[in-house]
Amino acid sequence: MVQLDWSNLAFKARETNVIVISRYIDGAWTKPEVTSDYGIVLNAYACVFHYAASCFEGLKAFRGVDGKVRLFRPDENARRMQSSAAFLDMAAPPEQLFIDMCVQCVHENIDYLPPYGYNASLYVRPLLFGSNPQLGVHSPAESTFIVMCAPVGTYSGAAGLTPGTATIARNYDRAAPNGTGCYKLSANYAPSFHPYNVAHGQGYRELLFLDPATKTKIDEFGSSNFLAIKDNTYVTPLSGSVLPSITNKSLQQMALDFGMKVEKRVVPVEELAEFSEVNACGTAVVITPIYSIDDKPTLESTTPTLTYRFGTPDKCGAVSEKLYKRIRGIQDGVEDDTHNWCLML
Ligand code: PLP
Ligand code: COI
Repeated sequence: MVQLDWSNLAFKARETNVIVISRYIDGAWTKPEVTSDYGIVLNAYACVFHYAASCFEGLKAFRGVDGKVRLFRPDENARRMQSSAAFLDMAAPPEQLFIDMCVQCVHENIDYLPPYGYNASLYVRPLLFGSNPQLGVHSPAESTFIVMCAPVGTYSGAAGLTPGTATIARNYDRAAPNGTGCYKLSANYAPSFHPYNVAHGQGYRELLFLDPATKTKIDEFGSSNFLAIKDNTYVTPLSGSVLPSITNKSLQQMALDFGMKVEKRVVPVEELAEFSEVNACGTAVVITPIYSIDDKPTLESTTPTLTYRFGTPDKCGAVSEKLYKRIRGIQDGVEDDTHNWCLML
């Protein structure tokens, strides 16, 4: 095993032993190749550079308390990549190829899989992009599928479950109505750089996007879903411009297992006043408690019109903590994986 500061990995790109690559050429996927060379050579006309023909996934592998290696729900990521690629009219790797390449990537880089007990994991990043040279605006004939991985700690750098602040992005949208929000397209993320820079510059950790058509309903954070607790109910937005999060789907099942009610429905912004706990949830952020959300006329405004508060800045809500412990417990082999979510490697 490599020697890294497992308690302070942060969430950042790192080169490990190898990446795994398959190419879609002449209507078929090539046998996956393993290489330590991260320098991909592409033609300057490659479709991805000009027309953003690209989508990606994110999933995690964990070293359990029992020493076994678990990959969390790779079949779900495989299917979501197929749906993203279908939206772009691009060839997607078949489910089994996707899973096999993720497994191979973890095996080949096992030296980088963090030990149990550091709240760290191996973040696996599958990436698909149109790689043939072209000038016309149409879907690419050739694609490249790469699986890479990096050992990571928490997304924000703060200890797990440390509450953070958020602000609403009133004058920015994450995705257009009837657009790309429900697919994991690379092109959804570059437009969030600027509003995130503004929000981070003002000291906020997260940015909450509203439904782009009416700006009256909650959609999601820029890199994670929104989930709230109201009495014994788990509430999460139903919206065509939200990414179907695998973490959120898993947490909803856990909430049901705990005997809670789950509501996936339209969430008006004003309902924020009625929630006792609010969290961002996703593979990278797991569950990140949000203790306040500012609503401002524009993101650039310095004075909020309204500040919604949930719990206290120093403590995660009790229900959120219970959900967090359950999902992390399953991933670490500490709790029973009753729904068979983990692929054992
Ligand atoms: N929403 C957005 C915009 C994301 O980028 C992500 C991250 O993947 C999520 C939600 C959470 O999805 P998942 O739980 O599948 O990682
Ligand atoms: C993830 O949670 O896996 C993501 O893709 C979010 C972000 C790092 C883009």
